[in-house]
Amino acid sequence: MITSSAAPIGALGDLLAASVNPNLGGWLLAPVATEIEAQTIRWIAELVGYPTDCGGLLVSGGNMANFVGFLAARKAKATWDVRAAGLLGQGARRLRVYTSSETHTWIHNAADMFGLGIEAIRWIPVDEQLRMDTTALKNQIQEDIEAGDLPYLVVSTAGTVSTGAVDPLPDIAAICREYDLWFHVDGAYGGFAAALINDGKETVPRDLKGISEADSVAVDPTSGSMRRWRLGVPWYAILKRCVRRSAIILPITTSLTRPNQPSITTNTGRRTHGAFAP
Ligand SMILES: Cc1ncc(COP(=O)(O)O)c(C=O)c1O
Repeated sequence: MITSSAAPIGALGDLLAASVNPNLGGWLLAPVATEIEAQTIRWIAELVGYPTDCGGLLVSGGNMANFVGFLAARKAKATWDVRAAGLLGQGARRLRVYTSSETHTWIHNAADMFGLGIEAIRWIPVDEQLRMDTTALKNQIQEDIEAGDLPYLVVSTAGTVSTGAVDPLPDIAAICREYDLWFHVDGAYGGFAAALINDGKETVPRDLKGISEADSVAVDPTSGSMRRWRLGVPWYAILKRCVRRSAIILPITTSLTRPNQPSITTNTGRRTHGAFAP
């Protein structure tokens, strides 16, 4: 992974953010910074071909972006209230998450921190191009349903950290639709290449086009685009469908015009993470 060097506009952005020092903990606390963040999210969504009626956040890193998607999936797909009752609520079943053996280590942390346990992860084998084997994925989901478990999330990767492999996103999206699973894409490394599709470039793998079908996507606008957008602090974005599929993590109402960030992230107060930089 090659990261960009510091950019003058990024330095100015961070100087401004540090001087004003807004707390991105909610629209009421920092309305201007919040609106800048919301607009930045819409621009990023537009660039990568994601529906612009999504919600999203700028966060401190790839792990954090993926954690938000992971939690949103649990909220949306568990058939009982995990937030209130924990993993053993009434009618609870063993939650199952599916991902390839090439996935970044953040998924171990997520399964650990959010109480599922690492053994809840089904490691799906990869083909010779190190992409998730979708036949194996489907077979494993089917097997788990028959065993009484609750398959709820597929984590696919657009640009694996080791080799840059892109999972077959359109095929995985179709399987998620068929079994009603949340479809998360970790595009922290390669997701921004989807912007080339919007430019009509033929060199982009067909597999990336499925990014627009994801329920949540983690992207890194700086390393992914190789643009000199940042000063030194990485900032990533999590994009989430919130109109077609509501994915509120905390019980606070989120409106797209007046975003209330604590309702869709794990943080309460947040710094701006270069939100002024783009
Ligand atoms: C695909 C992918 N996901 C997640 C991460 C984790 O990002 P961070 O180290 O910023 O938390 C990385 C970082 O290399 C990555 O390449």
